[in-house]
Amino acid sequence: MNYTMNKENLGTNKVSWLNYYDKIEVLSAEDEIYEGLRAEKKFISPKYFYNELGSELFEQITHLKEYYPSRTEKKLLAEVAPLLSIDFNGINIMELGSGDSSKITILLEHLSSETLASIHYYPMDISFSAIEKAVKQIEADFTLKAITAIVADFITQLKFVPKIKNRLFCFFGSTIGNLNVQERNLFLQELALIMEPGDYLLIGMDNVKNKSVLEAAYNDSMGITADFNKNILSVCNKIVGTHFNTEDFDHYAFYNEDEARIEMHLRANKDINTHIKESEETLFIRKGNTIHTENSHKFSLKHIESMASTANLQIKQIFQDEKKWFSLVLFTK
Ligand SMILES: C[S@@+](CC[C@H](N)C(=O)[O-])C[C@H]1O[C@@H](n2cnc3c(N)ncnc32)[C@H](O)[C@@H]1O
Repeated sequence: MNYTMNKENLGTNKVSWLNYYDKIEVLSAEDEIYEGLRAEKKFISPKYFYNELGSELFEQITHLKEYYPSRTEKKLLAEVAPLLSIDFNGINIMELGSGDSSKITILLEHLSSETLASIHYYPMDISFSAIEKAVKQIEADFTLKAITAIVADFITQLKFVPKIKNRLFCFFGSTIGNLNVQERNLFLQELALIMEPGDYLLIGMDNVKNKSVLEAAYNDSMGITADFNKNILSVCNKIVGTHFNTEDFDHYAFYNEDEARIEMHLRANKDINTHIKESEETLFIRKGNTIHTENSHKFSLKHIESMASTANLQIKQIFQDEKKWFSLVLFTK
């Protein structure tokens, strides 16, 4: 089946869309959320943060003073853009989890108009609304050869990434840190399998650092991260018909040093009973218990080297900011 659709309202005819969301989601999203809510240690996958409100809140988070990762990565990208050992002429940029596309914008800004006119940009994200907004902005700011927006899950649908030569895969925002070690290894191995010699992979990773800096970044004083975390309950209510009230949960985020990760949870501030859609099943969450919503792993050089060797990728360049808070790593096959 062909999932291509042209969105005429999105500007020039250089923009096309590949929408695979319906193919995987709905049923499997329900199953996935059920599984997490039924588990003894309850969890919801962080990909369900990103409905329209979730994507907006995440964008607000990236501007918060405590949230250093976005601005550190952006500054580093601007510094290293001219130093990357990549020939951008005629390149196909595949950006996984592209969100608002603000990171790729920084790379594009460093290229000549001739080079830009030879580039095909493929943003890929599970959030239609985020990608729609981002594509409009990229179209307004740059004249590229073409843009193909892909609405898909980069974990289960990498097979839909167009099989063409001369690709630069980008994975910014330390989104790789949201995967656990096993998921991360599998994801990188699958990505390495679809990569051809001559393709590049550029990953932005948040580094291990002082606990107080890390914890402040996920507990901002304006409470935006708390709103972002609680919004996942509304997504859950919509998908599986639970009746969670966001006020019955508190945002809880801390650095787990043993696992080198920030953990985000929603902690029940009272005993909670809710039903699952069209089922007699009652879900009970005791006051003080949590639903685990996100891990954000932090990386050291040792982690980066181990990632490369697990996926059989070569590290071509590693860039870090002055404080060594963030890394941009360029891999090749
Ligand atoms: C942490 S944000 C990063 C966004 C952007 N790359 C940046 O650096 O600001 C993660 C992005 O990945 C997307 N995402 C999360 N899980 C995904 C999945 N399994 N498949 C596709 N996109 C996903 C989200 O919708 C969101 O836009």
